[in-house]
Amino acid sequence: MSDASLAPRRYTATARLLHWIVALMVLATLPIGTIMLTEGLARPTQNLLFILHKNGGVIILLLVLLRLLWRAFNPPPPLPASIPLRQRQMARAGHAALYAALLFMAVSGYVRVVAGGFPIEMLNALGVPPLVPRSDSLEAVAKAAHFWGRYVLVALVLGHVVVALHHAIVRRDGVFARMWPPLGR
Ligand code: HEM
Ligand code: HEM
Repeated sequence: MSDASLAPRRYTATARLLHWIVALMVLATLPIGTIMLTEGLARPTQNLLFILHKNGGVIILLLVLLRLLWRAFNPPPPLPASIPLRQRQMARAGHAALYAALLFMAVSGYVRVVAGGFPIEMLNALGVPPLVPRSDSLEAVAKAAHFWGRYVLVALVLGHVVVALHHAIVRRDGVFARMWPPLGR
């Protein structure tokens, strides 16, 4: 058996589990963010969606930071040798952009709420002090950033999912299995 066949082919179970938890949470948070702003929603429903969105968003932020920390000490396994250099570079850039867009959305959401003087129930309960000052101008900038950033994130996620499914269904080259299943060896 050669050394190459002994090399790990999957992300660690921790990395895979975090990937799929964050993916599910983001896929829920995006529509919740849009639905909670629709006109004519019953007040209690709207309040519940806001609570889910804000606190879910903060949990996404913490999980993404945890992922990046884990990744720093557990680098991804090498890609299959069949993947050309150009595609490796695009995958790396796409993944970096996904991480950046997730952080951008979570931080802009946080700033929009805290600068606007609104609560983030989970952080308030834990006694975490506001990390940005109350400010109308800061709130407006963060609100616009959060609004427009969403389109970038959605585009990146769509592209990512199309490429992942192409690897899984058409090319069947082992790339999808690097991130699947979410648990186990
Ligand atoms: C909101 C949803 C999602 C986000 C934000 C997301 C984000 C990411 C990120 C940042 C990575 C890079 C991991 C790293 O190297 O640290 C990754 C890898 C991966 N994702 Fe996703 N993902 C999402 C949904 C999905 C879905 C739905 C699929 C499958 C249909 C998928 C399949 C994969 C695969 C196969 C990899 C490994 C790629 C490789 O080996 O280079 N992801 N994802
Ligand atoms: C990755 C995480 C997040 C995603 C993907 C996301 C996504 C979205 C989306 C799609 C909207 C609807 C925008 C619109 O139609 O105007 C929205 C709105 C909103 N989000 Fe987030 N969000 C995230 C994190 C957060 C966080 C952490 C907070 C606060 C703690 C937050 C607070 C808000 C608020 C207050 C709005 C309403 C904005 C307004 O007043 O116009 N979001 N979000």
